[in-house]
Amino acid sequence: MPVEWAGSGPELLVTIDRHCGAGLRSQLEDQMRDAIRCGRLAGGERLPSSRELARALGLSRGLVQDCYAQLQAEGYLTSRPGSATRVATAAAARPDAPPPAAPPAPARHAVADFRHGVPDLRLAPREDWAWAIREVCRTAPNSAFDYGDPIGEPRLREVLAAYLRRVRAVAAGADQVVVCTGMAQALGLVLRVLAADGIDALAFEDPGAGVSTTGQAVAAGMAAVPVPVDADGLDVAALERTPARAVLVTPAHQWPTGVVLAGHRRQELIAWARRRGGVIIEDDYDAEFRYDRDPVGSLQGLAPDCVVSLGTVSKALAPALRLGWLIAPERLLGPLARGKLIADRGSPGLDQLALATLIESGRYDRHLRRARTEYAARRETLLAALAVHAPALRVTGLAAGFHAILHLPAGTDEDELIEQARRRGVGLYGMARMHRVARPAGPQLVLGFGDTPKRAIEAGVAAIAGLLREASPLHDT
Ligand SMILES: Cc1ncc(COP(=O)(O)O)c(C=O)c1O
Repeated sequence: MPVEWAGSGPELLVTIDRHCGAGLRSQLEDQMRDAIRCGRLAGGERLPSSRELARALGLSRGLVQDCYAQLQAEGYLTSRPGSATRVATAAAARPDAPPPAAPPAPARHAVADFRHGVPDLRLAPREDWAWAIREVCRTAPNSAFDYGDPIGEPRLREVLAAYLRRVRAVAAGADQVVVCTGMAQALGLVLRVLAADGIDALAFEDPGAGVSTTGQAVAAGMAAVPVPVDADGLDVAALERTPARAVLVTPAHQWPTGVVLAGHRRQELIAWARRRGGVIIEDDYDAEFRYDRDPVGSLQGLAPDCVVSLGTVSKALAPALRLGWLIAPERLLGPLARGKLIADRGSPGLDQLALATLIESGRYDRHLRRARTEYAARRETLLAALAVHAPALRVTGLAAGFHAILHLPAGTDEDELIEQARRRGVGLYGMARMHRVARPAGPQLVLGFGDTPKRAIEAGVAAIAGLLREASPLHDT
C-alpha cells in the first residue's frame, strides 16, 4: 500500500540546476521518471499539486503542469478530474523496482495466544498520552526543545523518585535516577559500568533471563552464570558458590516462575552482596500488578548501597514508549551518566515530560487501577476455565503480573503439546525452553494473559484440556 500523504504538498526530492544548460522541464521530467523507475516513488503514491511543486522548486506552474501531462501521456502518472496526480501502478512495477510488500501475515493463532511479556495493547492509554503530550507542547518553555540532561529531564527524575518512594518504598532522591530507553538500555548501561569496574561475571535466575539479557552481559565482556530458582526465589547458597559479583533478580514476581523472593532470601542476598562487594541488579518486574497479597517493597529500599533498581513503563503503559529508569548508588552515577551520554545524549525530552505530567496528574495511577481491574478479571477467567476444563491441574505464579504457570500431567511432552495446539490455533509457550542448566520439576506451560481477551482465554484453556485428554485419555486433567 502506498503511503497516503496528507495535505496538498507532500515534499519531493528534485533538484533543478539552472546553470547546467539542460532545460528546466526536461530536468524535472527525467528526475521524476527515474524516481518512478527505481521505486523511490511507489505505484499509487500521490504527488504534490502542480502549484505546490512549482512553488517549492521556484518554477512556473505551467511548466510543472506540462511535465505532469507529458509523464501522464507516457503512462508514468495518472490523474482524474478533481483528484490528485498519482504514480501509475503499472509504471512503478518495473523489473528493477523493489518487490511489492508482502501481504499481511495471517493471524498466527486464531483461537488464543498465551504469549507473555506484553500488556493488553488495546488498553494503552491513548487519550491520556495524547493529552500529556499536548500539555507539554502547550506549556513547556522553548528550552524543553533543546538537548536535555543526558541522565533525564530533572522534572521527570523528581516525579519518578517521589512516585517510587511512595509506591515501591525505594530509598533515593532524584539525583540517583537515570532515565533510559526502557529496562533494556538501563541493564546494558549498568553492566558496562560494572564490567569496567572489574566485575567479570553476572549471575542470573534459571529459569529466567532470555538471550537478550545474557547477550547484554556477554556484550559487556562478562560471563553469564545461571543460578537456580526454587519456591522462595533465587537460591542464594548456589549463588555463593559462583564467582559472580553481580546478580540480576526479579524479586517482586520472578520471571517466569512467578514466585516472590522470600524475606529470608532477601536478607541473605543483601548479606551476600555486602560480603562480596557485589551488586544486586533488581528488575522491579511486574510490581504494578499484584492481586491477592500485600505489596512487597523494592529490594533497593532495603539496601540502597548495593542495589541498582531498574523500572519501565513497558507493562504499565506500553512497550512502544521505550521509557524506563534506573536507580543507582551514588558511586556508580558518574560512570552511568557518561555511559548514557555516549549512548544517545539522553532519552527523548518531550516524552519524558509527558510521563512526568501523566504521573503528576494522577492519570497514570488511574490507568493502572483500570488495567489492574481488567487483568484481575482475566486471571479469574483463567482460573474459572481451568476449574471447569482441567480441575486436576495445578496453577502457580499468579500473585502478580499477567502470566501463570500451568503444571501439566507428568509425562506430557511439552513440545508436542505446543505443536498440536498451534495446529488448532492456540499459541502456547513451554517452561523447559526457559531453563538453562536447572531442570523444571515437570512439564509446564507459561500462560500469558496480558494480551489475551477473556473469550480467547476460555477457548484456549478448553483446547489445552482437550489435547491433554486426547494425548492421554487415562490422565486426570
Ligand atoms: C524480565 C523482564 N523485565 C523487564 C522487561 C521490560 O523491558 P523494557 O523496559 O526494555 O521493555 C521485560 C520485557 O519483556 C522482561 O521480560
